[in-house]
Amino acid sequence: MTTTTTRVLTGITTSGTPHLGNYAGAIRPAIQSSTQPGVDAFFFLADYHALIKCDDPARIARSRLEIAATWLAAGLDPDHVTFYRQSDVPEIPELCWMLACVTAKGLMNRAHAYKASVDANTANAVDPDDGVTMGLFSYPVLMAADILMFNAHRVPVGRDQIQHLEMTRDIAQRFNHLYGGGEALFALPEVQIDDEVATLPGLDGRKMSKSYNNTIPLFEGGPKALRAAVSRIVTDSRQPGEPKDAEGSHLLTLYRAFASADESAAFRAALEEGLGWGEAKQALCERIEAQIGPMRAQYADLMAHPGRIEDILQAGAAKARRIAVPFMARLREAVGLRAPARADGAARAAADAARAGRARIVSFRDEDGRFRQRLFGVDGAELLLSEPFDDPKALNALGRGFAGRDLSALAADGHGMVRLEADGLCWAHVPAERLDAVQAALAAI
Ligand code: TRP
Repeated sequence: MTTTTTRVLTGITTSGTPHLGNYAGAIRPAIQSSTQPGVDAFFFLADYHALIKCDDPARIARSRLEIAATWLAAGLDPDHVTFYRQSDVPEIPELCWMLACVTAKGLMNRAHAYKASVDANTANAVDPDDGVTMGLFSYPVLMAADILMFNAHRVPVGRDQIQHLEMTRDIAQRFNHLYGGGEALFALPEVQIDDEVATLPGLDGRKMSKSYNNTIPLFEGGPKALRAAVSRIVTDSRQPGEPKDAEGSHLLTLYRAFASADESAAFRAALEEGLGWGEAKQALCERIEAQIGPMRAQYADLMAHPGRIEDILQAGAAKARRIAVPFMARLREAVGLRAPARADGAARAAADAARAGRARIVSFRDEDGRFRQRLFGVDGAELLLSEPFDDPKALNALGRGFAGRDLSALAADGHGMVRLEADGLCWAHVPAERLDAVQAALAAI
């Protein structure tokens, strides 16, 4: 492993439809930075976070698709970055619990999102915790788990998230101190705030945001919806021919986010020379459309084939879990959630294998002095126990022979058990429903 790799990680809460501001302010710069040399990027759909703010299942489901399709259409390369859904990596909520157990409640009392709710309740003279769920209260712990699970070095986010990154560092330090034994289990992440990145004004000139209801759609609704929104951007009442205050105009800010410096300078000059607002809006639409038009077709195609999105996300989750599963095994060990020491050493061997992200066959002698094998999956779970054999060599050869074999054609007996046998010797009996897991493990040894 090279030490020059920087792991960059960011998450997007799946509770809405991406708009132009999300694209220029987060998606586009993140994809650009993922192509820099030495960057190992992790981008994920924060769908557990979405449950904190949204209890409409249809909206959550739709947003997960829309946001995934948006990132892919905008040029994210799933072979190059690790692109996954938070809820497909069960190690994240597991880590969240471990972190919650070292997080001071007092630290969470100071979190902005929670405090804002309490302040609003106090102002309305209702119970301070009215409508506050444990999800909202402990939201920074889940965010810390997202980040620490992959030991991210840099986390590009908006300014509203700075406090969460500070909390993540606090929590990581406390965990390292308690359980690291002198070794840093977690890297301390740095927040990354890009001043270069465009913060787009919305239709009314305030920051473009779903909560202000002033957004310009990105892909949904097609070019027509884009034009309709742009036509509603607030301008002053100067007529065509009258010089415009270009620098004071939101149209120019939006234009700059989609044009080169030269093109923007020309647009500015045209406004100052009296270009009408109508024509200026037309030019702005064309600029935006030149960049996002080609992506829209791909977006529509992905939205029409959700199975493709699912395949990409599943592959991404598998990639993420190749890191998360062994790291979680190490963390469980560190906090004392260990398998008890066993005479046959199988637990240790399984933990070693899990740490290395491999499946494993472990041989041992049972109480009767005969030889047996256990098969452990990549997550360290025990999948089968072999029959006892007197000859350890014969057993080893038999077990090894199953690696990579296609077991799918084997039929279950009347008790739902499948016999794994070769050359007339029975290696083990496996419940039929576990056969896929056994086959997957045998392929991952
Ligand atoms: N809380 C972030 C937001 O609302 C989204 C998020 C969740 C996130 N987990 C994260 C961002 C981890 C960066 C890293 O914008």
